[in-house]
Amino acid sequence: MTQQYEPAKSGEERPIIIEARNVSFTYEGEDESTALPAVNGVDLYVREGEYVCLLGRNGSGKSTLAKLFNLIFAPDSGEILINGRTVVEDKMTDDELFEIRRTVGMVFQNPDNQLVATVVEEDVAFGPENLGVPSAEIRERVDEALALVGMSEYAKTAPHMLSGGQKQRIAIAGVLAMMPRCIIFDESTAMLDPGGRADVMRILHRLNRERGITVLNITHHMDEAVSADRIYVMNEGRVMTCGTPEEVFCDVAALREAALEAPAGTELLYELNGMGGDFPLPSLDFAECAEIIANKYKEKN
Ligand SMILES: Nc1ncnc2c1ncn2[C@@H]1O[C@H](COP(=O)(O)OP(=O)(O)OP(=O)(O)O)[C@@H](O)[C@H]1O
Ligand SMILES: [Mg+2]
Repeated sequence: MTQQYEPAKSGEERPIIIEARNVSFTYEGEDESTALPAVNGVDLYVREGEYVCLLGRNGSGKSTLAKLFNLIFAPDSGEILINGRTVVEDKMTDDELFEIRRTVGMVFQNPDNQLVATVVEEDVAFGPENLGVPSAEIRERVDEALALVGMSEYAKTAPHMLSGGQKQRIAIAGVLAMMPRCIIFDESTAMLDPGGRADVMRILHRLNRERGITVLNITHHMDEAVSADRIYVMNEGRVMTCGTPEEVFCDVAALREAALEAPAGTELLYELNGMGGDFPLPSLDFAECAEIIANKYKEKN
């Protein structure tokens, strides 16, 4: 691939790549007077090179927001900005819209819905072919995208022969071959076993750290959010809280209000505090939590 995005240097403030400003969106229902907004006055931004996680219970509006960033839907009110520009579809030229659509790629939950061809390499080539990329460059992009997800040896394999985790890696390669600067992963590990999930998570982090690709990871798995630069929590269409993993997971009570849990170790310390303990919160690493408890135990004996 010819283009590569510089990983962020520490202390450097990167430009905002995707942003929602006071965005609301309601699905058209049979009775619009009673329809509640799926996304309700949301403010959210992701800087170039950031790794941001979006958490929230079922139905809190996460996928709807992702589709607003991917221009599948347009907001009823508020603004979506991509690369610092407000997206107004009927006031933009086709070229401008094309460029904006190329900025954000999406990987969904079910890889079976994303794979279109009968051979892996044709599948990965599908996106760049649609973008009109010259065939020599497509070859280069496909090879590199497959290498990035560790699937080069499966180039000639039929996707239906692959495991769920391998299929998801092919779906990621297909998005990578279009060279978006930002990728939104919408519960992309939800259907995978722990091994497949770990593989996909490693790839996400590598793409972010080594390639500088901006990541918005929508997930139910708290452990995936622990290593994020920042976290947003949505509840009933609104952003309930945002901050660093330490800030967000410290407030276990607020998380519970949103039907979410902190990472397992943090939850345990919180419960122990409810029984009269005075453990510091948050410690996000399970082993570190165990160490905190063990040290307290040793102090007492
Ligand atoms: N196509 C649709 N038509 C009507 N209502 C919808 C549609 N898609 C989603 N909704 C509603 O919009 C709200 C937000 O849904 P959304 O899919 O954005 O939530 P989510 O946070 O992604 O949930 P999940 O964790 O289950 O994926 C929910 O109340 C949902 O029922
Ligand atoms: Mg969803």
